[in-house]
Formats: sequence, structure tokens, C-alpha cells
Amino acid sequence: MDRIRVLGGRPLEGTVRISGAKNASLPDMCATLLADEPVVLHNIPEVRDICTMARVLEALGAAVDFRVGGTIEIHARTLRSIEAPYDLVKTMRASVLVLGPLLAREGRARVSLPGGCAIGARPINLHLQALSKLGAEVDVQHGYVEAIAKRLQGANVMFDTVTVTGTENVIMAACRAQGETVIENAACEPEIVDLCDLLRAMGGEIDGAGTPRIRIRGVDRLHGATHAVMPDRIETGTYLAACAVAGGEIEIYACRPDHLRGVLDKLRETGVRIEEGPDNLRVRAPRVIRATDVTTSPFPGFPTDMQAQYMALMTQASGTCTITETIFENRFMHVAELRRMGADVRADGRTALIVGPTPLSGAQLMATDLRASACLVLAGLAASGETIVERVYHLDRGYYRIDEKLRGLGADIERLK
Ligand code: EPZ
Repeated sequence: MDRIRVLGGRPLEGTVRISGAKNASLPDMCATLLADEPVVLHNIPEVRDICTMARVLEALGAAVDFRVGGTIEIHARTLRSIEAPYDLVKTMRASVLVLGPLLAREGRARVSLPGGCAIGARPINLHLQALSKLGAEVDVQHGYVEAIAKRLQGANVMFDTVTVTGTENVIMAACRAQGETVIENAACEPEIVDLCDLLRAMGGEIDGAGTPRIRIRGVDRLHGATHAVMPDRIETGTYLAACAVAGGEIEIYACRPDHLRGVLDKLRETGVRIEEGPDNLRVRAPRVIRATDVTTSPFPGFPTDMQAQYMALMTQASGTCTITETIFENRFMHVAELRRMGADVRADGRTALIVGPTPLSGAQLMATDLRASACLVLAGLAASGETIVERVYHLDRGYYRIDEKLRGLGADIERLK
């Protein structure tokens, strides 16, 4: 099991290139099931979750061809199965994104319930309610979702809670339903827009992507297409926070600053200097970081996937601040590990209180989930001495070569096999 070793205290400098977005690539890969012609996706990050999704699609009968430089071709000419098996879904809950496409294309789907994960119970009740509105008969038996729909019918769907993958599942199902579907209270994340860009390139008829009201007119068939996946906005935010907490000045390129408004505004409030270009950011860490409260919220607010990274930064900020996590019920697993490094952080329910700055000392740490792992690496950059982060497979799920990229920015970091 790989570990990452960081020797803290070195400011960052240089340039880093952002990879394609994991959370756009995953739904985009599932959307290819809606056509019987090849779909080519560029700028796919070669991270573990992508490999897992490729195995799910292959289990269904699609041909997945990884080319050089982050391009994959997926050809779902005919499907031989409608089941996403437990042993794959349990390692990656985003596998539930095959539900909508399978129902639309095959009229049936059998998908293992994803189960919870470190950050929360993560139910999919909203997905199932919405697909039932489109005419699917949904049954949950023996830990599996069994869904059947002779022909999906367009409907009006309203989500009680904003759900990113729930919105994605419904959009994909509605693309080949009979008639029109309107989704109210849809997720507005950029990943939704990316998925709809791909679906429109495949012949889908969708309006309102990126707004809370999305209208989809069902079509009889979708065809092949070529699409470049958007840059990863959370990876971008992670390197912004890394520079802020380690000190120094870096350039981040191949990114989309317009996807990060909530993060850029908040980091500027703390004193981080950020210059924006069309697809690049120049970041300079302030001498003094100002403690600044944050509350996570759906896009365009401050993303929950940046909460842990921001907490690492706030341990080095002057003053007291609160971080309130409104999306997931258990997303403070990184607090205990930060305290072991000397941080003054106390979590109480959905709010954490941070008093800074506190000198962090390197320690042996245990990663629990993808973004908590990133938080611990960032804290290691600011700590004195050596930090070892165990269970790096969490990191590898969503960050492409984070150790190499940080080393390229001057950090003293290496992966221990
Ligand atoms: C997506 O997860 C992302 N994953 C998550 O990123 C991200 O944290 C999350 O959206 C929020 O932005 C992918 O896109 C693959 P939700 P998702 O459905 O869709 C509740 C990462 O680190 N809910 O928007 O699963 C749910 O419990 C990952 O890359 C229901 O109650 O999140 C949560 O409290 C972590 N019932 C809230 O809604 C449902 O049917 C938002 O969840 C669905 C969701």
C-alpha cells in the first residue's frame, strides 16, 4: 500500500497543469451507453475511479479503448448485461450513473446500492424517485436496485435536495424518453454543463444546463461524438490552497477560473493574491493569512470538495474562524488527523472551529477519503519535519500524480512504494 512522504517548510514555485475533471469524466463515460456508435473523450484524467468506471462499462459489454494522452474511445455497440455488480459499485458509488442510460437504452437495469462511504450515508433515493417519475418501476431487493421501463416517458421532476449525480442520471434517462422532461432544482455544477455539452454533441436536445431548470426533449436515438472533458475545478482549488498554505508563488494553467468563483472569492478574502487569465491563474501566498469563515453550498457557492483543503489553510491563518459543512453529514474526518499535527480545530456537528496560526509538526497520518487525503498532504507542506500519509489509494482515486505535480512545484515530496 503506497504512502506519501512530505518534508514541510518549502514554499512552492513554478507551473502546474490541471488534468481533466474526474467528476465530469465519470458521467460522460456513462453517457456513451446511450449510443451504439463510438464516442471519443479527450482530457480524461487517468485516475483510479476512471479505471473502475471503464471496468463497469466493459462488464456491461461496451468496448473501452484507452489511447495515449488521456483520450478514450468507448463503443457500446451492443450490451450483453444490464447489471453493475456489487464488487465494482462498492469501490465507486459513481457507478450508479449507469442507471439512467441503461434504463433509456435497454429498458432494464440492475445496479448494486452504492452503500455509504466515509463522508456520509449517501443514499440514492432522489435518483430512484425521479426515475420512477419517468415511468420506471423501481424495486430495491437484496442490496440491488432493479429497475424496468418499457419506454421512459418525459415528466416534470423536482428534486427536494440538489443532487449532482441525481441530476445527471435523470438527464441521461430523459434524453431518450418519449416527450419532454423538465427538471426543477437541478444541480448547476459545471460537470452538469459538461455532460450536457457531450449529450448535445450526440444529438440530445437539452436547454438550461447550469441553471436550476433543465428541459430535455427525448429523441429516438443518439449517435457517436467527440468531446473534450472540462478541467478539474477541485484539483485547481487544491493547488491554489497548496500554494497559499506552503507559501510562494505558482502558475496554474489549463484550468477554468470561471468554474471557481466561490473558491477564488473566499481565498482572496483570506489575503491570497490571485491573478486570473482565460485558462490560467497566478497565485501568490500572503505573508499573513486572514482567518475567514466559510460555509459549503452547491455551485456556485464554496464547494464541499474544497472544505478539507481550506481547513488545512485555516490552521495557518491568524485568528479564529468557522467552517460549516452543509452537504455531507460526516465530512470532518480530517479534523482528528490535523489535531495530531498540532492544529487547534474542534468539530461540533456540521461546524468546525479553527484557531490559528498553530505550528504544525509532521506526523504519521491516515487518509480516510479523497479530499481529506489532500488536506493532509497540504498540511504536511506547511508542517515542520516529516509527514507520512498512509492509504494513498484514496488520493489516487481523484488526483492525477499529485506527488509528481507538487514535486514539480518544488515541494519535498515522494511516494513510498
Ligand atoms: C457528487 O456526489 C460528487 N461526486 C461529489 O464529489 C461531491 O462532493 C458531491 O456531488 C457534491 O458536490 C461525483 O460527481 C462523482 P449529491 P453526489 O447527490 O452526486 C444527498 C469527490 O470528492 N442525497 O450532490 O453523490 C447526499 O447524501 C466526490 O469527488 C440524498 O439524500 O452528491 C448529500 O447529502 C465526493 N439522496 C447531498 O444530497 C440522493 O438520492 C448532495 O449529494 C442523492 C443525494
